[in-house]
Parts: sequence; C-alpha cells; structure tokens
Amino acid sequence: MAILITGGCGFIGSHTCLEMMSAGYDIVVMDNYYNSDPIALERVRALAGRDFPFYECDIRDADGLRNIFEHHTIDAVIHFAGLKAVGESVQKPLEYYDNNVGGTVTLCEVMAEYGCKRMIFSSSATVYGMGNPSPLLETYPTGAVTNPYGRTKYVIEEILKDLCVSDPEWSVVLLRYFNPIGAHESGQIGENPNGIPNNLMPYVSQVAIGKRPFLSVFGDDYDTPDGTGVRDYIHVVDLAKGHVKATDYALENAGAEVFNLGTGKGTSVLDLVKTFEKVNGVPVPYKVVARRAGDIATCYSDPTKAKEVLHWVAEKDLEDMCRDTWKWQSQNPDGFC
Ligand code: NAD
Ligand code: UD1
Repeated sequence: MAILITGGCGFIGSHTCLEMMSAGYDIVVMDNYYNSDPIALERVRALAGRDFPFYECDIRDADGLRNIFEHHTIDAVIHFAGLKAVGESVQKPLEYYDNNVGGTVTLCEVMAEYGCKRMIFSSSATVYGMGNPSPLLETYPTGAVTNPYGRTKYVIEEILKDLCVSDPEWSVVLLRYFNPIGAHESGQIGENPNGIPNNLMPYVSQVAIGKRPFLSVFGDDYDTPDGTGVRDYIHVVDLAKGHVKATDYALENAGAEVFNLGTGKGTSVLDLVKTFEKVNGVPVPYKVVARRAGDIATCYSDPTKAKEVLHWVAEKDLEDMCRDTWKWQSQNPDGFC
C-alpha cells in the first residue's frame, strides 16, 4: 500500500512527502522538475531518515504513469502537479489548460485503469472568485474566476465531481488552499520561486535578504482596517498535515468532498511586513504603489468543516510563518544549490 504524490518535489509537495512519511504512510513520488529541483527530495529523504521511490515523469505521459502503477500498488494519489503562475496563465492559457486540465484527465484515466479511485486534489481559494464575502464557506458559489490559472482549478474540481457522480467508487477530496507560506522548521526545504516572486511572502523575504530594494505594497486604499489587502496565510507544514488527514478520509469514504484549508484569520500586507520585521529583526522597506489588477480586498476562510470532518486545524501562527520563512531564506539565499 502506497500513496502516489504528483508534483512531490515542489513547495507544498516536498513538505507533504515529509508529513506523510512521519504519519507512517509509504509514498511514491513523481515530478517532471518543471518548477522544482531534485535537491529538495534529497533533503526530504535526509529529514525523514527514509528512502522512497521517485519517478521523473509528466502527468500527461500515460505510459510513464502506467509504469509507476505497474511497479507499485497505489491506494490514493495526492495530486499537486500543475502550473501555478497567475500572470503567466494569462499569457499562455493553452499551456495551463493542457498541463493542469489535460494532465489531470490523463492521470485519472490511468488511475481508473489500475483500479485506483482515490484522489486528494490541490485546489485554491481562487475558485471563490470576486463575488463572495469572507469568511468563505465551502458551500459558496465558485467559478467567477478572473484568470486561466484559476479557471483550471475550477474546471478540474467540476471534472472530479463529475467522475464521482459517474462511478460511486471514486473518492475525491478537493482541498482549497488559502495562502501557503513558511517553510519546514529545519530551514532545509522551502519555497524557491523562479525570477521575480509574484506572491507577497517570497517577495518580502527577498527584500529582507537584500536581493530586492523594497516591497511594492499593491494599494493602501482597500476597505480593510489599514487599507492593504487581507489574506489568510497558512503555514505550509500545517497545510501538509491537512493532506495526511485528507488521505485518511479518502481511504474511508467515497464521493467528492470540498474542504477549505486556512486558519480563518485575516492578515493585512502591513501586518505581515511588521511581524516579519519584529520576529526576525530585519528591515523590510516598502513603498505603496497602485493596486494590482484582479486583486480583491479581503479573502479568508471559514475552516470549520475541516476541523469537524477531517479533525484538522492549523496550529502555527503568523510569527511561526515569518520565522520559518526567514530561516529557509537566510540559510538558502539562492534556493536549492
Ligand atoms: P510548485 O510549482 O512548487 O509545485 C508543483 C510541482 O509540480 C513542481 O515540482 C513541478 O515541477 C511539478 N509539475 C508541474 N507540472 C507537471 C507535470 N505536467 N507533470 C509532473 N510534474 C509537474 O507549486 P506548489 O506551490 O507546491 O503548488 C502545488 C499545487 O498546489 C499546485 O497545483 C498549485 O496550483 C496548488 N496551489 C498552490 C498555492 C500556492 O500558493 N502555492 C495555492 C493554491 C493552490
Ligand atoms: C495570488 C493569486 C491567486 C493564487 C494565490 C496563491 C493573483 C491575482 N492571485 O493570490 O490566484 O491562488 O496567489 O497563493 O495573483 N502583495 C503586495 N505586494 C507584492 C505581492 C503581493 O502588496 O509584491 C499583496 C497583494 O495585493 C495581496 C497580498 O499581498 O493583497 C497577497 O498577495 P499574493 O501573495 O500574491 O496572494 P493572493 O493575491 O491572495
């Protein structure tokens, strides 16, 4: 019995590999290294003190996937593999639909061939779109997304729900992540963005280490307590533990279920910057600039369903997230090298 982790070399995947092994699961990992470095998995092996099989494989490669299923009995798949840059998805929509949607369809087809019908899928709070008030509940309408990346997540959710309707043996857990940040407390694995970071925390940590002169705060005139955008930041290790609980659940239940994985707390851009400076004793200079197109004022979760059904709650706070991000960034100023 093993759990296949697609995209397991990436940011959330590498942390989840570790937590799955800590919980006693055997894992098989695959990734095409499109956005990750093999060193991440070497570090996961060292931290776990355990080895696991790895396949360099693309989720769109049906024969490559079959090879994995021929060699291992896979009970469930945790499916992280995908492209995730919002701006890039606007420029290259077909790549996003091919990789994220097409790849997921191929993966499900091969899973079904081998009688493996359990999937834990990486969805995003982005599926709630612009129109819903926070705290966001799983029952709120989805689909009013503003970019192709978000649309791939919405479409995949719908495909996986359809699959569960078509065949009652399927078990799908759709996890809607809020804003994952932080790093493993060892400082050995963390987020390693290519080029200029799009997301707030990697940008803050690159300013703190001197790679970038200042943070641009995208707007201070939102209808929020300090005027800057409010989000639900969640420590990546808490998120990884959520996948352990979701796997436990998928092994025992059939059908499609959706869960928010967030803390339920809203944090503004300036709250995050000030906490980062205080906890780590480093300055993060910033300038307020215009709003970023497509941003909303406030987005945070109601995580009650995950607590009640999965018995999961986020345990780490914003200070932990800032401390662990800085440990990773300062120990690995150039990422995995
Ligand atoms: P990541 O880019 O670090 O990890 C994704 C991994 O998938 C990478 O290692 C990449 O090489 C691999 N990959 C991509 N396409 C592949 C393919 N066709 N075949 C095999 N491997 C492939 O991203 P992450 O932050 O760890 O995100 C993991 C998942 O969670 C993604 O699906 C992402 O959309 C989703 N998600 C992330 C966030 C976030 O803020 N990080 C928020 C919501 C949802
Ligand atoms: C972004 C994506 C979203 C994706 C999520 C993954 C956009 C429009 N949305 O969401 O689809 O699911 O990442 O985590 O890209 N900010 C700054 N300066 C920066 C960067 C960000 O002020 O340099 C602000 C933003 O305006 C926002 C907050 O920080 O208020 C968080 O931004 P970010 O980390 O990009 O996450 P989201 O906007 O929630």
